[in-house]
Amino acid sequence: MAGVDSRGHREPTPEPPGLARRVVAVARDQGLRRLAAGALAHLGYRRMIVFERSLRDLPPPRVPPPGATVERLDAAAVDDYLRLRPDTPASLVRARLAAGCVCHAVRFQGNLVAAGWTGSGRVRVDYFDADVDFPAGVAYYHDMYSVASWRSRGIGTILVSHQLAALAAAGLDRIHGASVPENRASIRVCLKLGYHAHEWLVAIGYAGARRIVRRPWRGPPLTLDSAIARRNASARAER
Ligand SMILES: CC(C)(COP(=O)(O)OP(=O)(O)OC[C@H]1O[C@@H](n2cnc3c(N)ncnc32)[C@H](O)[C@@H]1OP(=O)(O)O)[C@@H](O)C(=O)NCCC(=O)NCCS
Repeated sequence: MAGVDSRGHREPTPEPPGLARRVVAVARDQGLRRLAAGALAHLGYRRMIVFERSLRDLPPPRVPPPGATVERLDAAAVDDYLRLRPDTPASLVRARLAAGCVCHAVRFQGNLVAAGWTGSGRVRVDYFDADVDFPAGVAYYHDMYSVASWRSRGIGTILVSHQLAALAAAGLDRIHGASVPENRASIRVCLKLGYHAHEWLVAIGYAGARRIVRRPWRGPPLTLDSAIARRNASARAER
């Protein structure tokens, strides 16, 4: 029950933040680019950068740190997955597995600490709340996640390197991974593994009547070096 203290006194109900206050909070915490992207998404325009990598001539998968292992999850491990991602409905996890999507995960001391999905053909892109078709021979990787205490320690990159090896062994030619331009960590994982920016995937309209279009990447090549230069520049600007 909200709003009553231990002595039975009614506490003032906190006022819901007004729009202006929310806008200022998002701009302060997440930056103006995220704020603009959120506003556009609200107006029915969402975009992601599609990164591509050939699955030929891959380096060997990266070695997990001591005590950690990489595995492919099956239906028996759905509960483990839900402990890692409690916000994901069990029905969605089972539906993905039934549709042929593959989940790889990193386990440490019995618990999953990172997981990510791959699929091909028609794949649900959650950010668009829409199905997107990928060309024959092209895998799509999505919904990568690592627990906060493990982030920036290489575990996401290790996980994806194992996904790439599994897809190559399954005979796929290329992989696509889509990321919102604001998600620097996700983009960095792609760049560290030799992906390049390939195209924009744009969703226009609202759920139920959403149109998906692809636009070629016309910007400068997005490389690990250019990402590092940008990160250093923004760190300098903050000082
Ligand atoms: C995206 C995610 C899975 C990456 O996992 P991770 O375990 O941190 O991945 P890694 O440690 O292998 O690599 C992350 C890289 O991003 C860098 N990074 C992290 N935050 C960054 C930021 N704000 N700007 C630039 N680089 C950043 C890290 O330093 C690291 O690079 P480095 O190894 O060169 O130092 C994790 O951040 C996450 O779960 N995020 C929330 C869910 C999400 O956004 N998923 C992506 C959906 S596609």
